[in-house]
Amino acid sequence: MTKKNAHKATRQIPRPRLLVLHGPNLNLLGAREPEHYGSATLAEINLALARRAEAAGVDLEAFQSNHEGALIERIHAARAEGVRHIIINPAAWTHSSIAIRDALAAVAIPFVEVHLSNVHAREPFRQHSFFSDLALGVITGLGHQGYLLALEFLLNKLLTDE
Ligand code: DQA
Repeated sequence: MTKKNAHKATRQIPRPRLLVLHGPNLNLLGAREPEHYGSATLAEINLALARRAEAAGVDLEAFQSNHEGALIERIHAARAEGVRHIIINPAAWTHSSIAIRDALAAVAIPFVEVHLSNVHAREPFRQHSFFSDLALGVITGLGHQGYLLALEFLLNKLLTDE
């Protein structure tokens, strides 16, 4: 194989795709209740995730919405796009949204549920999740590092599933 063809061959292998979903009010991270959610902004969290994914040769897109239907439609699109895994912090919808739960069940894309705060150490209404029983796993209370730990888990999973 010539050098030129070798280059073509490597370009034909599609990079695995991961999707990170952030629910309502997470666009306010950094300023929003830092005693619960820390001081990192959403842009900083997404940048750290993008850098780690890039270093691993994985495509990662992050999407935040304050509109439930927008998140549902993003989940539906993920199936057609061949997204392998999702990291989701459904935020307040964790405790209320059967519709987002059903969307994740419908596309059957394995996902990790992440919360910045430890939802089990807070108000009782935060202790029920409509997502946890479907999730590969749940990370709660480790701040913004939780997203990176979820990504690390999924990068390992991509390697071992191949
Ligand atoms: C959260 C916890 C939820 O209870 C809350 O509604 C959020 C953020 C977290 O990351 O700790 O908005 O998901």
